[in-house]
Amino acid sequence: MDLKGCIFDLDGVIVDTAKYHFLAWKRLADEMGFDFTEHDNEALKGVSRMASLEILLHVGGVKKAEDEKIELATIKNNWYVEYISHMTPEEILPGSLELLRSLRSEGILTAIGSASRNAGMILDGIKLRDMFDAIVDGNKIHTAKPDPEVFLKGAEEMRLAPENCIVFEDARAGIEAAIAAGMRCVGIGKPDTLARASIVVPDLRQITIQQLRNL
Ligand code: G6P
Ligand code: MG
Repeated sequence: MDLKGCIFDLDGVIVDTAKYHFLAWKRLADEMGFDFTEHDNEALKGVSRMASLEILLHVGGVKKAEDEKIELATIKNNWYVEYISHMTPEEILPGSLELLRSLRSEGILTAIGSASRNAGMILDGIKLRDMFDAIVDGNKIHTAKPDPEVFLKGAEEMRLAPENCIVFEDARAGIEAAIAAGMRCVGIGKPDTLARASIVVPDLRQITIQQLRNL
């Protein structure tokens, strides 16, 4: 392919924030009096904040009114923001920085395509904002993954056509969003859950630019 841009999901690709999301959701479940396990947390990866709350309430068999749901999501987010406010560049996942540097040195543009409304704060904490030509996060989009909006907007902000872009994703909803956007997709994680990706690798250390161009 004629590779001109790479769009990276943030949570689970550049940094492991799932552990902080888990701590905050678990704390909320504890307060409501039910158990929430790391296994349950898997279903929340790549899923928007309110959709995550719905899954959590379903796990606990709890029903809440709309206004209470907004309140609960706000409480969880306040805890989550407190956790991520301590993040440092040491939390950048292995291979990310090296790949971003080599892409940019070849003139390939880079973007963030994340569902998170906290993406800006995380990028500042890990000091990686300067490595991206465009940052599209949950504050800029209306429809969550698997809708392609976040990646189409990323391509648009880089002024590139979707077919010249590759997406890096760790969540199934994100892979579906990339396919719907007409983009090739590198799955980060296990092949069984990410089967629809163009290729699947355990982390960004395994990727070469030549491999990407061959997709
Ligand atoms: C990412 C994470 C999800 C999270 C979502 C919204 O997609 O993988 O677990 O729910 O972002 O994040 P936010 O920071 O806006 O609550
Ligand atoms: Mg992710």
